[in-house]
Amino acid sequence: MTVASPLPFTDSEIQVLKNRYENAGQGHVFKFFDSISQDEKVELLKQLVEIDVDNLNTIYKKAIEGAEMATKGVDELKPLSPDVFDSVLKHNDEQLKEWEMLGLQQIAHGKVAVILMAGGQGTRLGSSDPKGCYNINLPSGKSLFQLQAERILKAQELAHQHRNEQDPQETIIPWYIMTSGPTNQPTYDFFKKNNFFGLKEENVIFFEQGTLPCLTMDGKIILETKSKVAIAPDGNGGIYKALQEKGIIRSLRERGIEYSHCYCVDNCLARVADPVFIGYCVSKGTDCGVKVVGKMAPEEPVGIVCVRNGKYAVVEYSEITQETANERYPDGSLKYGAANIANHFFSTSFLERVPSFQSELEYHIAKKKIKYTNLETGEQIVPKTNSGMKLECFVFDVFPYAHNMSVLEVKRQDEFSPLKNAPGSGADCPETSRRDIVAQHVRFIENAGGKVVGDTDDYEQLVFEISPAVSYAGEGLKQIVSGKIVKAPATIETLDDLIRATC
Ligand code: UTP
Repeated sequence: MTVASPLPFTDSEIQVLKNRYENAGQGHVFKFFDSISQDEKVELLKQLVEIDVDNLNTIYKKAIEGAEMATKGVDELKPLSPDVFDSVLKHNDEQLKEWEMLGLQQIAHGKVAVILMAGGQGTRLGSSDPKGCYNINLPSGKSLFQLQAERILKAQELAHQHRNEQDPQETIIPWYIMTSGPTNQPTYDFFKKNNFFGLKEENVIFFEQGTLPCLTMDGKIILETKSKVAIAPDGNGGIYKALQEKGIIRSLRERGIEYSHCYCVDNCLARVADPVFIGYCVSKGTDCGVKVVGKMAPEEPVGIVCVRNGKYAVVEYSEITQETANERYPDGSLKYGAANIANHFFSTSFLERVPSFQSELEYHIAKKKIKYTNLETGEQIVPKTNSGMKLECFVFDVFPYAHNMSVLEVKRQDEFSPLKNAPGSGADCPETSRRDIVAQHVRFIENAGGKVVGDTDDYEQLVFEISPAVSYAGEGLKQIVSGKIVKAPATIETLDDLIRATC
């Protein structure tokens, strides 16, 4: 016979906890307490003591108020002024080279880190692994994490060529990877299994973001099982709290990092540690910067970077009237055309300043299908429609607090192809990710004066890929391919592979 171990809480401690939840209108979390096993009681109590239930109610109230305000459309919107907004499409190569050089120098000085937001649960994609482990069916079979790691390696190599005598011997771009409860262990295991893709383990730093309980539409905590509160990561804006609480800001300072490039795991075209963007932001004394792409059409459902009530902000497409969305400049471009792609630059001092306004940041409501336990029957329900909400902060919520904001427009086809949806869905899915990478690599060859010839023009099928180890953004190919044909199928991992494929 096994004897259940005593609860690590006294009866009076449990009573205090019950009262706290009762008083906050969340007493139902104890509904099944008397009928569950001793171990389950421990599991539930451990979760409940960690939750600041009064703060949770306040977050919910503010989120509801914020959502109502947004639908009223009472905000005054203005487009970005030209002094904070530049576009790589409008600048000549000389300017881009200048920014690139400045960015590479900052990397060589050891002042640049990369922060990856990889805490999302990727529910729409439907894979049980973290999104970064996903194989988008490239000819090389590389995962998103591998592509990104190889871009860091290449950026280090390119920057190293520009180091001066005072610079560190080794050029290192530390990679800080934000995970969450569900993605933390599998992410670490994947890196370990793959030997950190050639990076040094000490320069890949994982940190876990916070979570919040999921709520019903009327703000009640959802029980996933009788003994477990449903929880979810607190959104990609959870990054700021996590950077503070997990000692990452300290680590940045210890390593002498002044600037960070922060991006999303699901953008297969992300130019990780992009020297052009870093150089651009540094040249403008930016504390908080963002990359955008041109909105394809007024009705495209994307968030827009603009000025709301005198402060920089991302305004969701649902918050903009049709009339505003259609406003254009005399040259035909959309006034509200700076589509947010969650790709950021932060100075370390900006990140250090976030706690001074953290409490003012509002959470947003994300309605989701959340498993719940029926409080009458105790049965677990797996809903087919949205059953509740996750409360999330967004990474762009800090924009209003920037002192020196800069916005750089880049080419969508070169820098943005997100992986959101399940295979076969036709948009922002594994097939489009693969297609966009292959198309870009074909353009690399064409821009270098060569031509890729294969048995198909369909980039979802064409077997052609150039490793970041060979070229980060199309550089270094001209001398080999100019005026030549590059034959597909070809999976080019080295310059020798490229030479062999060229005729
Ligand atoms: P999304 O908002 O697209 O969420 O994340 P997701 O988790 O990838 O996918 P769905 O909505 O569940 O289908 C955009 C980026 O923000 C990160 C994601 O990992 C992705 O890089 N993110 C999102 C976090 O880091 N933490 C979060 O809590 C949410």
